Amino acid sequence: MIYSRITGTGSYLPGNPVSNDDLVARGVDTSDAWIVERTGIRFRHLAAPGQMASDLALEAARRALEAAGVGPDKVDLIIVATSTPDYIFPSTAALLQAKLGASNGGAAFDLQAVCSGFAYALAVADKFIRSGSHRCALVVGAEVFSRILDWSDRGTCVLFGDGAGAVVLEADDKPGVLATAIHADGRHSGILCVPGMVSAGKVTGDPFLRMDGQAVFKFAVRALGDVAVEVLQQADAGADSVDWLIPHQANVRILQATAKRLDMSMDKVFVTVDRHGNTSAASVPLALDLGVRDGRICHGQRLLLQGVGGGFTWGAALVDF
Ligand code: UT7
Repeated sequence: MIYSRITGTGSYLPGNPVSNDDLVARGVDTSDAWIVERTGIRFRHLAAPGQMASDLALEAARRALEAAGVGPDKVDLIIVATSTPDYIFPSTAALLQAKLGASNGGAAFDLQAVCSGFAYALAVADKFIRSGSHRCALVVGAEVFSRILDWSDRGTCVLFGDGAGAVVLEADDKPGVLATAIHADGRHSGILCVPGMVSAGKVTGDPFLRMDGQAVFKFAVRALGDVAVEVLQQADAGADSVDWLIPHQANVRILQATAKRLDMSMDKVFVTVDRHGNTSAASVPLALDLGVRDGRICHGQRLLLQGVGGGFTWGAALVDF
C-alpha cells in the first residue's frame, strides 16, 4: 500500500509586519480596537510592488525542500494553490518550477479554490501519490491578496495579508495523510468574489475582493465543523485524538466557534491570524510551518488541517505528522 507523508515544511512572509495602527496612518477608516475585537487580527504582511506569488512561493518551497532534505529534481509534482497568480498564464507552479531550477519534466499546475486552496491541493497531491503515478510533491499556498484589495473598503482591506507556505509530500509505506475531504457549492459564489476579468485588453467588471462578511462567517463556521467531523469519521478517529487543529486563519471568532463545535479546547487550536491576517491559500501551511519551527508541532502528532473560502469551497485533511 502506498501512502503520502509530509516530510518538510517551509513558509515566507514578505516585508515587515504592518499593524492595525499602520493602516489607520495610511488612511483606512478603522481602528485597532475594532479590528482586534471583531477579528483578532493585529498584524499582516504586504508584498512589495513587483513581488509576485511565485517569488513568495519560491522562498517557502526552498525552506520546505531543505527541511525534507530533498533536491528540486526529485520533485515530480508541483501544485500551487493561489487565487492571485503572477499571470493569467503560465501557471505560478510552472514559474516556480523554473525558479527552483527543477528540470526533470515533472507535472506543475495551479489550483484555484481560494481560502480552501491548500486543503484542496493536499487532497489532490495525496491522491496522485497514492495512485503510484508520482512520488514527491511540493504543495504550496501562495498569495498576494494585497493586489486585489480595495483600500477604501474597510470591511475587507483590514482582513487580508500576503504570504506563502509549502510542504513536501512523499510516498511512504506508512500512513501520513489519513483522510481528506473537499467540497464546493457554487450557488454561494456571490458572497465572496473578485468579479473582474481581462477582456479586449482592458479590465472589465470589478477587479477587487467583495465580501458579504456575515454570510461568509455563518457559512465558514458550519462548513469547518462539518468537514472536520467528516474526515474524523473517514479515519474512524475521535476529535480527542487530534493534537492540533490548524484551520484556515480568517477570524479568531470562527476558530473559536469551530473548536466549540468539536468540543475541543482552544489550547489545541493553532492561531496565527493575529500575526498574519487572512492569507487565503497560504494560511494553513504558514501556520503549520510556524508551529514546526517554534517546536509546538512535532513529528508523531496528529493534525487536522482545514480550509473554507470563495466558491464557496471547503475541505480538510487528517494527518499523522
Ligand atoms: O477566508 C474566508 C473569508 N473571510 C472570512 O471568513 C470573514 C468572515 N466574516 C467576518 O470575519 C466578519 O463578518 C467581519 C470581520 C468581516 C465583519 O465583522 P461583523 O461583526 O460581521 O461586522 P459588520 O460587517 O456587521 O459591521 C459592523 C459595523 C458596521 O458599522 P454600523 O453599520 O454598525 O455602523 C461597519 O460599517 O462595523 C463597521 N465596520 C468597521 N468599523 C471599523 C466594518 N469594518 C470596519 C472596520 N473598522 N474595518
